[in-house]
Amino acid sequence: MPATTSGSRARRILCPDPAATTKLGLALGRVARAGDLVCLQGDLGAGKTHLAKAFGAALGVTETITSPTFVLMAEYQGRLPLFHLDPYRLADAADALAGGLIEDRQAEGVTLLEWPERLGDALPSSRLDVRIEGAGDDPRQITLVAGTPDYGRYLDAAG
Ligand SMILES: Nc1ncnc2c1ncn2[C@@H]1O[C@H](COP(=O)(O)OP(=O)(O)O)[C@@H](O)[C@H]1O
Ligand SMILES: [Mg+2]
Repeated sequence: MPATTSGSRARRILCPDPAATTKLGLALGRVARAGDLVCLQGDLGAGKTHLAKAFGAALGVTETITSPTFVLMAEYQGRLPLFHLDPYRLADAADALAGGLIEDRQAEGVTLLEWPERLGDALPSSRLDVRIEGAGDDPRQITLVAGTPDYGRYLDAAG
């Protein structure tokens, strides 16, 4: 396993089609634990929400996970609560989130955060980064980075 920065590990997965990304999202969702923060990085159309849907399905979320235009954080019920943040369209999202990214109740569920780069230094190091490269019909290269050893279970689950 390649070392990245101290204490973190990374794994790269090729997802040639949407079904492969779904499979990865399902595998990740299965090992999710309360209090986890999963950051989904990638350009518009990379597949962040696509992966979030699969992650939610693995948590038993039956409601459709969408990209709400005016809602900063959507909450879904599964075996754990799922909090989905997609601040793409919210101009002041970074300020709002930096003030309280992790609310108390988020400790009881899993938080999926799209556009984490908008939060800059406000992100805790204890998190999983999921970086999606590729767009359109191209294959996606998805890199998982475990910020702390605890998040290594996601890398193991990715196979
Ligand atoms: N390998 C792939 N993985 C994920 N999505 C893919 C892949 N190939 C094509 N797509 C398509 O790319 C689009 C990604 O959209 P979406 O998940 O909403 O992006 P984002 O949330 O990153 O803006 C979807 O229409 C999806 O079907
Ligand atoms: Mg999205």
